[in-house]
This record gives sequence, C-alpha cells and structure tokens, in this order.
Amino acid sequence: MPRRKKSLYEWWMDRINTLTGLNPSPNKIFNVISKTIPKAFDYLYSRGPWTGIKLSILAYYLDVYTIIAKKYFNQICYVDTFAGSGIVKIHEGNESLLLYGSPLLSILVPRQEKKFDRYVFIELDYLKSAILRKAIDALAEWGIVDSTKVTIITGDMNYVDYSYLLRNCRHSLVFVDPEGTEPKWSTINKLLDLNIDLLFNFMTSGIRRIWGNWRNGRFSSVNALDEFYGDDSWKKASNDEDLLNIYIDKLRSKRDIVIPIKVMGSHAFYYHILLAVRRTSRGNPWLSPIIKSLKPRIERTDSTVFNKLIEVFRGRMKPLTF
Ligand SMILES: C[S@@+](CC[C@H](N)C(=O)[O-])C[C@H]1O[C@@H](n2cnc3c(N)ncnc32)[C@H](O)[C@@H]1O
Repeated sequence: MPRRKKSLYEWWMDRINTLTGLNPSPNKIFNVISKTIPKAFDYLYSRGPWTGIKLSILAYYLDVYTIIAKKYFNQICYVDTFAGSGIVKIHEGNESLLLYGSPLLSILVPRQEKKFDRYVFIELDYLKSAILRKAIDALAEWGIVDSTKVTIITGDMNYVDYSYLLRNCRHSLVFVDPEGTEPKWSTINKLLDLNIDLLFNFMTSGIRRIWGNWRNGRFSSVNALDEFYGDDSWKKASNDEDLLNIYIDKLRSKRDIVIPIKVMGSHAFYYHILLAVRRTSRGNPWLSPIIKSLKPRIERTDSTVFNKLIEVFRGRMKPLTF
C-alpha cells in the first residue's frame, strides 16, 4: 500500500519534535551557562517564531547531508559563519522559548554514526561567542561532543582563511546566516572554490529596503550592497525578486544547483534560504525530499502557523483546534 502523505500539521510536528526533543534540553545547558555568565539570558539571540522555521530547514538538511556525505567522504566538517550564542530565544508577546541555535544543532541533530568530524563556529560578538564556548564545554562534559573537534573563532567571517581552516576536510557544509548584508561576495566566492555545500540565508526584505533607499536617493548603505553582490549588478533590479535572482545567478556561476526556499516572517518580513550544491554523477537523488517535501511545505507556512504549532507542542492548545 502506498504510504499516506503526512498533513502539514503532522509534518511540522516531526520538525518541532526534532528541534525541541533534543537531549539534554537547551534549558539544561542554559542553566549551566548562567551560573558563570549571570546576564547570559539578555545576550541570547532573540527573534520571533520564524527563526524556528529557519532552524527546522537547517536541521532537515543536517540529517540529509550527513547521511550522504559520510558515505563518500572520510572527513566531513561543518562551518557556521554567523554562529550566534548557540541557544536562541524565540519570543512571542511576553513569553519566550529556548531552542538550540545552528551551531549546537550541527552537533546534536546528525545520527550517532554520521556526526561531523570537525566544527568551526565564527561569531563576531565577544559575549555571544563566550556563551557558545560555555555551551560547548557543557556538552563536552555530558560526553556529547569532543571539544577538541570544535574551533570557535571570535571575529569577522570575512577575514577568515577558509582554505587553510578546511585543509583536512574532504567535504563541508557551510551555513551563512547573517542579519543583513554582512557576508561579502568575495568571501562567498572563495568559499565556493572549496568542496562545500552552501546553505545561505538571503535576507530578501532587508536587502530590498536598502535598495529602496537607494532608489529614493538615500545612498548611505550602497557600499554594503556593492560588497554583498561583489559589484553594482543589484542596481539593475526592479523589485525584490530581481534582487534575489541576481544573487542566485552569482551562486549558479559556481554551483549547478541552487534551490531557493521562501520563508514568510511576520508582516512584510521574509527571507529565502538558498541551498547551493554541485551536480553529482548520480543526479543528487538526496535532493528529492528537499525539492518535493521540504520546500513546498515551508513555503505554505508562515510564522503564525509555526507559532500555533509551538503552542500545541507546549500542550496549551489541542491539535484539533489547530
Ligand atoms: C542571525 S544571527 C545568527 C544566528 C545563528 N545562526 C543561530 O541560528 O542561532 C547572526 C549573528 O552573526 C553575528 N555577526 C554579525 N556580523 C558578523 C560577521 N561579520 N562575522 C561573524 N559574525 C557576525 C551576530 O553577532 C549574530 O550573533
């Protein structure tokens, strides 16, 4: 009998279980951190529920990537170029929920025999980087990660020598998760010369805002867009779709396959997660669940739906009501 297709609700419950069912819980790790950094709660990366959607996409790809890459490469690495504090605060109204952020998901999500061999986390903010270090130390004490496999760099991701850093890695997954236009094209271009898959958070509505300012004669952030695109090709855009497609074309000059996934935030806020990979001789069969299952479901979800799902998970609302 053919397998029944999961409803959007059932599919999301699987995703939320992955994010919230990790052991130890983020609250446990956070309690350890706050003993040495009492104000840590104020420094956690704090955003609305759409952050959970982004983390779900990452968690999904971490599983798919590690299963496949481990088959073909004996040394696989994960690079988080905008690592944050390791634990994120999802807030809605006066309430907040702690979730693991991207660097700790890379340690906790892959299956036991499929773990990365090395981790590189880059974070510009000194305090966030210190919280991340404490979180890694706590996970190491729990026997969950060997801290000698983790390199934390406190600095600007645009000034890292990636080819030296990844010299022993046969293949790597690089996650680029900025708040705006921080990653310069020159940096991304160098990264794409290496043997990597790239998962890139393109902050579409933020980039459109800067471009809109330029169209209205306000030139203050023009340099940032020039560096982000590597040239002034963005000036040819007529709307946000063009701004996205110009960047996708740049990625396509280095990778045959670029998959954009649109994530709806609140109001006019939205972004795209771009997955850029090389075509393989077998035709990348593992991308099929990304294209057929992950992408359409994410694109049907907005942060209101995600927020309701979190409520259901916390037991405050019955699934039927949803
Ligand atoms: C969107 S947050 C990252 C969230 C994180 N990926 C997660 O899922 O938990 C962006 C982070 O990048 C840091 N950052 C900003 N500019 C940076 C740069 N040039 N290099 C490295 N980190 C930077 C910020 O301090 C912030 O913590």
